[in-house]
Amino acid sequence: MNQEIHSYIQENKERFLSELCDWLRIPSVSADSRHQGDVVRAAEYIKESLLAAGADKAELCSTGGHPLVYAEKIVNPSLPTILVYGHYDVQPPDPLNLWDSPPFEPVVKEEKIYARGACDDKGQVFMHVKAFELLNQLGPLPCNIKFMIEGEEEVGSDNLGPFLEKNKEKLKADIILVSDTAIFSMDTPSITVGLRGLSYLEVEVTGPNRDLHSGVYGGAVANPINTLCAMIASMKDADHHITIPGFYDTVEVLSVEDRAALNKAPFSIDSYKKHLDIAEVEGEKGYTTLERTSIRPTLDVNGIWGGYTGEGAKTVLPSKAYAKISMRLVPNQTPDEITRLFTDYFHSIAPPSVKVKVTPHHGGEPAVTPTNSIGYKAAEQAFMQAWNKTPIPMREGGSIPIVALFERVLGLKTVLMGFGLDTDAIHSPNEHFGIANFLKGIETIAHFHFTFAQLQNETK
Ligand code: BES
Ligand code: ZN
Repeated sequence: MNQEIHSYIQENKERFLSELCDWLRIPSVSADSRHQGDVVRAAEYIKESLLAAGADKAELCSTGGHPLVYAEKIVNPSLPTILVYGHYDVQPPDPLNLWDSPPFEPVVKEEKIYARGACDDKGQVFMHVKAFELLNQLGPLPCNIKFMIEGEEEVGSDNLGPFLEKNKEKLKADIILVSDTAIFSMDTPSITVGLRGLSYLEVEVTGPNRDLHSGVYGGAVANPINTLCAMIASMKDADHHITIPGFYDTVEVLSVEDRAALNKAPFSIDSYKKHLDIAEVEGEKGYTTLERTSIRPTLDVNGIWGGYTGEGAKTVLPSKAYAKISMRLVPNQTPDEITRLFTDYFHSIAPPSVKVKVTPHHGGEPAVTPTNSIGYKAAEQAFMQAWNKTPIPMREGGSIPIVALFERVLGLKTVLMGFGLDTDAIHSPNEHFGIANFLKGIETIAHFHFTFAQLQNETK
């Protein structure tokens, strides 16, 4: 089978890429209501692709927000069932002037596809569609397969929880398979075993009741931008430790062995700095860069604004200042509790000269997946077949809030088998996905269907 899988991919790769590019041309930006029609077009496109690849049925399901695409092929109810989850929505492409080529006109350069969504997550979802096509072409599927491709992941998946609750029977499966993460490197493939959670909120600081002349009033009235900056700065100490009382109370403490294992990955701090063009890294004292981006929580300003930002200068003491703040969470922090702690603390440190308001946006729980499950072992074997290497387990810094819900609502474990690279510039200008990653991903996924079916049947 190895050779057949490999040959099918080699013989069809140009068509796979050109179909992916057609999908990438549809600007399915979930956050921007002007793209509402494009979001639906992208959903239709993947629905048709799934039917063409061999699905018995495929449909758009309404969720109260952007539609979700559901498809399935049940070859034999007594076989194990794999439920593939992914998302067809993408992040806004801004700032457009920093792209070397337009974000929705995919181009191939140096063996990589450049486009918004190339890696996160259209390119990775498409690997599953093509692995499904391949399995259908090469013989009967070793497993039943269901697809759930949503259109709201990048805006917090608010409607997905209720969808899971209402569709438990339809979504019945033995494992969830997700490709929306990265591997450590092409030389060191990895399987993701942890994701951080998220608490995202917006703050507003109000000083005087209107913008003022900064000469007439400056020096005597609180400037909300200055005050907001001082408040944010005080939320971390000199060791980059977050100062919100109670913030670390529930943080999972890893054993010395687990930390050592995590740090065994062949990470080069020099290439990391070089890639980002920074002279030095910065972060919580006592932790390595790999730990800071996986097992430790964070607090970051994602955007800050207020006052005059137009051309030239305007001497103004603004009435208001705003910031969008994200906190990445680790086991056993919960978004609700962290949002509450932040809100209380933010109010407590505000000087009497300003009023403050905190508005929560969205959140998600962290997730840790086991390395001793059938799913993990099947993924490990699939990597060994396609890459000729044993993948390492790796915790990652990003969030996929739905993973915790899959476990809670459907009682299902997730295998996070993604094929991106941290350097793929997801959410940034010039997002890209290596063609080798795309093709190897298809191969690994195809193997996973066999290894999972086999291991699952052995334990019956
Ligand atoms: N694919 C990412 C998540 C990711 C990125 C996991 C890198 C592991 C490594 C996903 O599309 C994403 O961006 N999620 C959001 C979640 C948020 C909008 C609730 C994130 O992490 O910011
Ligand atoms: Zn994303």
